[in-house]
Amino acid sequence: MTITADQPIGIFDSGVGGLSVLRPIQALFPNEQLLYFADQAHVPYGSRSLAEIRRYSEEITRFLLSEGAKIVVVACNTASAAALNTLRKTLPQVHFVGMEPAVKPAALETRSGKVGVLATENTFSSPRYAQLMSRFAQDVEVIENPCRGLVPLIESGYVAATDTEALLRKVLDPMLASGVDTLVLGCTHYPFVRPLIERIIEENATGARVTIIDPAPAVARQMGRVLTRQQLLAPAGQRGSVRLFTSARSQSLADLSEQLLGKRLAVEEVIWRNNRLTSA
Ligand code: DGL
Repeated sequence: MTITADQPIGIFDSGVGGLSVLRPIQALFPNEQLLYFADQAHVPYGSRSLAEIRRYSEEITRFLLSEGAKIVVVACNTASAAALNTLRKTLPQVHFVGMEPAVKPAALETRSGKVGVLATENTFSSPRYAQLMSRFAQDVEVIENPCRGLVPLIESGYVAATDTEALLRKVLDPMLASGVDTLVLGCTHYPFVRPLIERIIEENATGARVTIIDPAPAVARQMGRVLTRQQLLAPAGQRGSVRLFTSARSQSLADLSEQLLGKRLAVEEVIWRNNRLTSA
């Protein structure tokens, strides 16, 4: 089947994290129609098995294609690390854009030679991450933290709560004390706690100036390059839109869309049944 430029862009994540990628996509390409799938029935992906993440990612991709997606953005570092290679092999006709922790720009940016990376356990243990480290982080010290428990807090909307702040202080204080001056947000959920991260850095006794790297705008630009190359950018007169899907309760994602995007969006429920997704 031929793909046409007026078809929507598919984006997915384990939950609301990928909305931090949807934001720059929407800002840079305002006349694109966006489909966003949050697999909230299975969040967090960070501690699930590779086989599970691959199975979910493939089925979500098929769902987005069935809704007309012309490209699929894997707006999740964990799913990209676990599944992008197999997705490309299994569905070679599909245009994919994935993501990875921004170790390369961080290694170029750091002056102290110490970089902090926040990502999930699965991302850290992936061969993709190991490759990144050996290619780009030979001359820098990388301090990693999987921020256990942070994704569920963000999924519950606790982006400014005391518990979230306490968790982040535990993660960031030792990093700052050891001289980290560049911090990579290697999980798409984390940009939603960026204000909290900035405050903790500001209040830190070391007075360190820290550059925070969120790769989402670069992912949006990369998607734009792929669409341009394929002549699939939306026609100039097209009206942009967003359709949100969740594999859990629509109410909770609608609430979170309001909180995280500043605009309450309608949400469609999709159900996992025998490893397949079907509209509710
Ligand atoms: N947002 C995802 C990422 O970028 C994963 C969060 C999770 O489900 O553990 O890695």
